Amino acid sequence: GSRLHLLESTSSTQIEAIKLAEEGAEAGTLVISDMQTNGRGRLGRNWFSPAGKGIWMSLVLRPELPVRFMPQLTLLTGVAVCSAIRKVTGVEAGLKWPNDILVNGRKVCGILLEAATEDNKVRYCIAGIGIDVNLSELDYPEDLRSIATSLKIESGTSVSRSRLIGEVMNQLEARYLQYENEGFAPILKEWEALSASIGKQVRSVTLNQVIEGTAIGLSDSGGLMVLTEEGKNSTIFSGEVEII
Ligand code: BTN
Repeated sequence: GSRLHLLESTSSTQIEAIKLAEEGAEAGTLVISDMQTNGRGRLGRNWFSPAGKGIWMSLVLRPELPVRFMPQLTLLTGVAVCSAIRKVTGVEAGLKWPNDILVNGRKVCGILLEAATEDNKVRYCIAGIGIDVNLSELDYPEDLRSIATSLKIESGTSVSRSRLIGEVMNQLEARYLQYENEGFAPILKEWEALSASIGKQVRSVTLNQVIEGTAIGLSDSGGLMVLTEEGKNSTIFSGEVEII
């Protein structure tokens, strides 16, 4: 089959990419849709994906990786997309752990990695990337207006979606090779350099605990290390982390 699938509309490019991966699509297969009717976000949320205004795409990856390293792949994807946004638009995008991309405190991009696994190994992984490119304030539903933004709003000009897609793919390929050759350490350093979380007060709420403190860095495995007010070190591995 072909490696690039350009769609006008679909429920979710994640679902299309999973279908292709299950049929044996090779690594690098990319599904892009002009709009999504049921875009999905992390933690069961919806992803607003209007026609013609954003980049809604899913990439098939086939890393030879134990499942426990998936968080590293997630951070790698964030570094690649954040670098691409900076390079193409000059907008000072920053990473919010684990991999939202923010500009001036508002979300401009969300990343969703979904993996199919077998015997604790990754069979394939779908990297879903949603970038708000050319939306105007009025394109957003009321509830998103204060928390989301677009590259056009932030830079004051329209941004070429095809150029940005090209740069995202270049960056992903480069980081992926770097990860294979040099391991996670260089990616971790870059993530910290592009971070909008580190040095900030953060709060993470899960079913059984609340962690609040200053984000101080990433652990070797990619968790967010937090120094609490009582002077305790905690590492957050999953869920939602608010910058407060
Ligand atoms: C998040 O919750 O921040 C992650 C959002 C991921 C959205 C992208 S858009 C392309 C791909 N297809 C989907 O349905 N979701 C991802």
